[in-house]
Amino acid sequence: MPKSSKIPGFYKLSSDERLDKLKEFADLTNEETEIIRSMSGIKLENATKMIENSVGGISLPIGIATNFIINQNEYLVPLATEEPSVIAACSNAAGLGRKRGGFTAKSTGNLMRTQIQLVKVKDFEYAKNNIQKNKSELLELAREKTPTLSSIGGGAKDLQLKELDTKRGKMLIVEIYIDCKDAMGANACNTVAEALAPKIENISGGEALLKIVSNLATERMVEAHAIFDKESLGGEHIVERILDASEFAHNDPYRAVTNNKGIMNGITSVAIATGQDIRAIESAIHAYASISGKYIPLTTWEKDSSGDLVGKIKIPMPVGIVGGASSVHPTSKICLKVLKVDSASQLGEIITSIGLAQNLAALRALVSEGIQEGHMKLHAKNIAVSAGATGELIEKVSEIMVQEKNVKFLRAKELIEKLEK
Ligand code: MEV
Repeated sequence: MPKSSKIPGFYKLSSDERLDKLKEFADLTNEETEIIRSMSGIKLENATKMIENSVGGISLPIGIATNFIINQNEYLVPLATEEPSVIAACSNAAGLGRKRGGFTAKSTGNLMRTQIQLVKVKDFEYAKNNIQKNKSELLELAREKTPTLSSIGGGAKDLQLKELDTKRGKMLIVEIYIDCKDAMGANACNTVAEALAPKIENISGGEALLKIVSNLATERMVEAHAIFDKESLGGEHIVERILDASEFAHNDPYRAVTNNKGIMNGITSVAIATGQDIRAIESAIHAYASISGKYIPLTTWEKDSSGDLVGKIKIPMPVGIVGGASSVHPTSKICLKVLKVDSASQLGEIITSIGLAQNLAALRALVSEGIQEGHMKLHAKNIAVSAGATGELIEKVSEIMVQEKNVKFLRAKELIEKLEK
């Protein structure tokens, strides 16, 4: 029987007790549990192999979102974030979604596009015809450059041309589509673009300038949806209010960006925990939000015939589970194990569902009690710690500040002094 991700009272346990539950759920070894617990994971000698001039590291807390059912599988989801409330919000929304079967997500595959920019092309028709004539050979050459991918059915799949009229003159852009399988694939894309450029220069008579992956991963999309029962949400009026809130975002970019920022709270946190290139994900998703020429929300909300709330999200998801930090960083490897993912698509489907959950939670809070109430308790603890509170004092100082609705650094200092006496 699959283990349930619904663990009542998880948030009330101590960190060690939570870690025990996680260990049991994901069959973690003692060593893996210790790595997560240590809050470091990566050793300095390994960091020096990842980036230049490394001197140390910075750690973020990892929290576990409970309650997730995605494509009928139970998930405990690790999120790395500094922001209070994100994990509680996700868990809460996932709990609300369970009643109607959780999240359903589907990805379109793992094609990425790499671009070669040709300038100084003298005869565009000649260049285009010649490149098209050599297409099979170029694709073959591309596949040879990614032997591992090609051996498992991935690698270059197609080549397309487009012309750009720019103020620096006309340019011809060669785009090669590469099936990156379970890798994020930027390296494979860049390798292919650089390898093909000399031959393409030769047959086009142009000069190849940029040879680089496109981060607008529109051939690597994930769609997810979930239904939230109106009673669990708090009644019909909450559904109506969420629809109004969503409509606000669909008609105002200032709101749409904030709406999407909330979605990214979930997405980026799982992406960090699992060692993804978060800049690639963020740039793809925000560009996609404005692909129509207008910046819009990544989610849509509507009512079904029973009056329940249906949420949908569709976003590019350039993620990988082989290569990159995901297979080097010990903590990321453990987070992937916790998620039991065996493909990049599956990881993308999980991450996208988290984004939808986060949006539901934010909208529900915004249309009811507001978000400050939820934020305040953890924020107060942060303030207490930054004012110097330790041990039991953290809880005491933050509780008083929340009761007084006066969560301020100076008040925390005063309280610490008073309570220490
Ligand atoms: C805060 O990090 C995220 C929210 O602003 C998202 C939203 O407004 O939808 C609460």
